[in-house]
Amino acid sequence: MFRRRSYFVTLIGILLAMTLLFMMFGSRLFADIEEEANVDEGVGVGNLIVVGVSQIGSESGWRSANTESLQKTFTKENGYFMIFNNARQKQENQIKAIRSFISQRVDYIIFSPVVESGWETVLQEAKEAGIPVIIMDRSVNVADQSLYTTHVGSDSVEEGRKAGRWLEKDLAKQRKYNEDINIVVLKGTEGASAQIGRTMGFASVAGEHENWHILEQQYGDFTIYKGKEVMEELLKRYDDIDVVISQNDDMTIGAIEAIKEDGRTVGINGEITIISFDAVHDALEMVAEGTINVDIECNPNQGEYISDVISLLEAGQEVEKRYYVEEDVFTIENVTKEVLDERSY
Ligand code: AHR
Repeated sequence: MFRRRSYFVTLIGILLAMTLLFMMFGSRLFADIEEEANVDEGVGVGNLIVVGVSQIGSESGWRSANTESLQKTFTKENGYFMIFNNARQKQENQIKAIRSFISQRVDYIIFSPVVESGWETVLQEAKEAGIPVIIMDRSVNVADQSLYTTHVGSDSVEEGRKAGRWLEKDLAKQRKYNEDINIVVLKGTEGASAQIGRTMGFASVAGEHENWHILEQQYGDFTIYKGKEVMEELLKRYDDIDVVISQNDDMTIGAIEAIKEDGRTVGINGEITIISFDAVHDALEMVAEGTINVDIECNPNQGEYISDVISLLEAGQEVEKRYYVEEDVFTIENVTKEVLDERSY
């Protein structure tokens, strides 16, 4: 009799524990999909255009600015209802989010692919569901171009080329054009188009100069922490680095910290030339003070461009397969006080 009672007590205990665990982690599981959705309970979608956005994560200042641009654009006042998902750098999370958007029958899917390959299946599912897909920022590498409607973002190969062309001019200005130049490259996320493009673009210019020596290229994941860690390792291996090409401002900030801690100097009057990408406000301040030599802009304000494309699609018009956002190159010469004051990110 007592045995049966203690059996029931144990069973009830297990059930209670399981319910508690489900409440704690089960809800987290769903939160991963719909987290940060600006869904107002009880408010109807009405005539609003529903966009499902899968963002890569929040690895950099640039990424936060990109997210902010979407949040400012896809508002109810502008006629949109946005469902936002943060994929935390995982392709599988992006695929889950896109599938969830398909099952919710959103009007448009917008996503920035963390890596460029592996999207065929999920894009085919969106196509079969008749939902237009707008690729934002980074690109996808798919053989069948009909799997997405359009791409709004940067020309990352051109960004890499701009870095190379700037270095050519700078070396000429310093009368070092024919000297041996030792370069290290801090690359972004492995497999990401922004990383692949910038690497290719810079390499194409570097390939024209026999005296440019790329000592090593390492992945720094587009983060401050990893940028610093990788730079520390490179500094241990090479004591003759002339140029650091760092594929985003966050890694650059980390790398500069490492270089300074190692007792070496950077920038216009320093031993190591710093070439960065993104041109976010904090980095532009470092350009203005001469710590970063040049910053190749990657424009995160893509929300409005995407909204313009959606307006065309809503009007039944044809759209281009690719739209490039406007981007500049910043050096101490053109980072004026006005540029800094106007910079919203
Ligand atoms: O895809 C754009 C890149 O991703 C930006 O350069 C970087 O800062 C971001 O994380």
